[in-house]
Amino acid sequence: MARKIIIDTDPGQDDAVAILLALASPEIELLGITAVAGNVPLSLTQKNARIVCELAGRPDIRVFAGCEAPLKRPLVTAEHVHGKTGLDGPNLPDPTMPLAEGHAVDFIIETLREKPAGTVTLCPIGPLTNIATAFLRAPDIVERVQEIVLMGGAYFEVGNITPAAEFNIYVDPEAAEIVFRSGIPLTVMPLDVTHKVLVTKARNDAFRALGTPVGRAVAAMTDFFERFDKEKYGSDGAPLHDPCVTAWLIRPELFSGRHINVEIETVSDLTRGMTVADWWRVTDRAPNATFIGDVDADGFFALLTERLGRLGRA
Ligand code: BDR
Ligand code: CA
Repeated sequence: MARKIIIDTDPGQDDAVAILLALASPEIELLGITAVAGNVPLSLTQKNARIVCELAGRPDIRVFAGCEAPLKRPLVTAEHVHGKTGLDGPNLPDPTMPLAEGHAVDFIIETLREKPAGTVTLCPIGPLTNIATAFLRAPDIVERVQEIVLMGGAYFEVGNITPAAEFNIYVDPEAAEIVFRSGIPLTVMPLDVTHKVLVTKARNDAFRALGTPVGRAVAAMTDFFERFDKEKYGSDGAPLHDPCVTAWLIRPELFSGRHINVEIETVSDLTRGMTVADWWRVTDRAPNATFIGDVDADGFFALLTERLGRLGRA
């Protein structure tokens, strides 16, 4: 049976690819998409999510707008990485599908209450504001969540938005703390693994060679997105952070990690948003997350390219 998921997202080129992979995969039933402010403000992330659904030929997917700002802090955005629109690169039309009625947080709460307990997986690939707000407003839903699979944090790779912190956790560390302390089974895709799935020229060519609107759009997105990481890290191409989440749902055996304790720094100005991961198990703090560290990158790209090739064909 397909796994029921909600994708909570701030698209973002890599978010877009994560969504496309979910929509192309029969192992996944996407119940809805909840947009949050992150890479760019909410007005753009909710619009970008609809652009991506239409690109996939799925205007029936419900896209909800969520929180405009983190729980306790002003929003920090990442136009320097994703461009002014958040989805710079391809030339995609404005969406015609409407935004779903209601607030994303209410959708998350209602869905978890409606569906049998333990049957809905949450997949956050942006700051954790919507998810934490739902837990604060409706604590009864926490024990109904099957699992959370998220992109965020870093340990050996340390930070990308500050020397110590990864963007999604940094933007709303108080929300991240609520999620990491929720007791829900957590699988975490930190920069340690996402920096291993790089869109090299050959992999980008393979997207383009699909010869479909989706293949061309994904190639143009990763072309745009790679300039930042190439300059910063001298890497071979764009890291596909967020698609690690949806790829894990389909082929978990491509990934490996450790079940360890991970705490979120919320106080220090210097290290705010750091994921303090007890990778070496040097404390007796209880494990709360499976922190992924490695991936079969060739297997990942073989899966992704094959699945993207399924979209937009008659
Ligand atoms: C994360 O931050 C965003 O820029 C990406 O979409 C990803 O979710 C990587 O740090
Ligand atoms: Ca994201």
